[in-house]
Amino acid sequence: MRALLGRAVAASSVVVLVVACGGADEPGASPRPRPPTRPSPEQGAAADRLLTGPDWYRHAVFYEVNVRSFQDSDGDGIGDLPGLVSRLDYLKDLGVDALWLMPINPSPFKDSGYDVADYGDVDKVYGGKPAFDVLVREAHARKMRVMVDLVLNHTSDQHPWFQESRKDKTNPKADYYVWSDTDGRSDVACGTYSAQFGTSAWAKDDQRGQYYYHRFYPGQPDLNYKNPAVVSAVLDAAKGWLDSGADGFRCDVIGLLVETADPEQCSMAPETQAIIRKLRALLDTYPDRAMVAEPLLGDARAYYGSGRDMFHMAFDFSYGYFWGVAFSARSRKLVDVSMAQSAAFPEGAQNALVIGSHDVQRAFTVASGHEWRQRRAAEIQLLRRGTPFVYYGEEVGLRPGAGVVVDSRDSARTPMTWARGPGHGFTKGTPWLAFGPMADETSVEAEDRDPESMLTFYRSLLAFRRGRAVWSTGAERVVGLDTGSVVAFLREDGAERYLVAVSLSEEEVDAALVERPAGVAEVVWGDGALGADGRLKLPARGSAVFRLR
Ligand code: GLC
Repeated sequence: MRALLGRAVAASSVVVLVVACGGADEPGASPRPRPPTRPSPEQGAAADRLLTGPDWYRHAVFYEVNVRSFQDSDGDGIGDLPGLVSRLDYLKDLGVDALWLMPINPSPFKDSGYDVADYGDVDKVYGGKPAFDVLVREAHARKMRVMVDLVLNHTSDQHPWFQESRKDKTNPKADYYVWSDTDGRSDVACGTYSAQFGTSAWAKDDQRGQYYYHRFYPGQPDLNYKNPAVVSAVLDAAKGWLDSGADGFRCDVIGLLVETADPEQCSMAPETQAIIRKLRALLDTYPDRAMVAEPLLGDARAYYGSGRDMFHMAFDFSYGYFWGVAFSARSRKLVDVSMAQSAAFPEGAQNALVIGSHDVQRAFTVASGHEWRQRRAAEIQLLRRGTPFVYYGEEVGLRPGAGVVVDSRDSARTPMTWARGPGHGFTKGTPWLAFGPMADETSVEAEDRDPESMLTFYRSLLAFRRGRAVWSTGAERVVGLDTGSVVAFLREDGAERYLVAVSLSEEEVDAALVERPAGVAEVVWGDGALGADGRLKLPARGSAVFRLR
């Protein structure tokens, strides 16, 4: 990336490419020093200030942890909470401020824990509730927050509520689930959520002699949210986690809570929105808590309500799950669409930005196996307005695994690779799911000191944006170009102004901005040149952030 535009680079370490007037400077005229992998003390202090108080989540960097695959502490091959505690310093050092834990409740694991058998407890395999208390204490001691996954649409069929509900039609929990004499009901219009979960949303229960409704796997019966007892039972469960010190929730498929007769209202029916408002009201009785919605694909706007009464954040899947195509001829369209959508969010809404999760392929796979593409995608993710959620292993470029324990999504759920050699520092036993390929090369040990590694790249980018509110909450605006192969956008707040230009092309770029933002341009990240005439030059597969003054 440093051999720019095919030109030999001079040995000087001049860092500033200034274009005051006249034509564009050539990028690559002098090599830029490597960006620091750690923020300055001033940035650290600024970050601490931004992360204090109710708006902390806007300035935080989140990290999604698959606890089962992160760090095993007792040799059973399964990651656990004490293991995670032992890696908190690594995460802190990476620049992570908050964790989202995939479900840790007791679960028969038919859907990787998204089949909850007890809302109030932590599975013994992860260390039980006492281990969660330790995690919260240790995370808070490092000024890190802990968000838990709240899976409210359905439970496991092993949950005591379902075990009672299925007994007969008159037991106290008989109405906790959605039952029918046939495999359908006129007041329930929606089928399974996707082909992944089967073709029929109704399964026969022989004990009760009726069918029950399940949007996901048959082992995940949907709760009946028309029953007020269910609403208060799950709010109690949520309260339990807040009382235990959880800093908030990632709310699983929350739009699906209430079933309706209208197929247009499968998601976010007015009754569902009313329950979300109750959850938010509960959350607001605790200081500095936040929650993020898993919306269905499409516009996340409905999840924000007024901007103050529903979710603090919702995942932006329009860019987050489809950025891979942004490297095709359709180029930057996706980012344009996503930015236009988020511009229409109400005041108070904060976009949650991802390029991967436990539900989709590894970012490295989406990048078609090109590390440079993942890096460019991560720059867009981390330099857009919003709160980034890094999925564990993204920072080392974890490769997709081939083993399957639950379903095909396991390819992106393989154990973290900490070290070279057997067990890869993850376990002393046999891992519950096989490691992906190149586990030695993608280990933290291998990448730690390599200046060209993905880990060094992530550390540097996270250090670059740290403590600067412009990246998390500054205004965001697409900048037009005469090429489709560059994503360019302006970021600004009262204090600072930046132009971010990310190339999607394997060729050098020499393009024209439709409108050159005013100011002298200084490259502060990556490499490139921005002329006063609006000509933008980027190296092949490169990117640049220009500070405008
Ligand atoms: C969410 C989870 C996914 C799970 C589904 C059902 O989409 O992210 O992993 O299978 O909900 O709970």
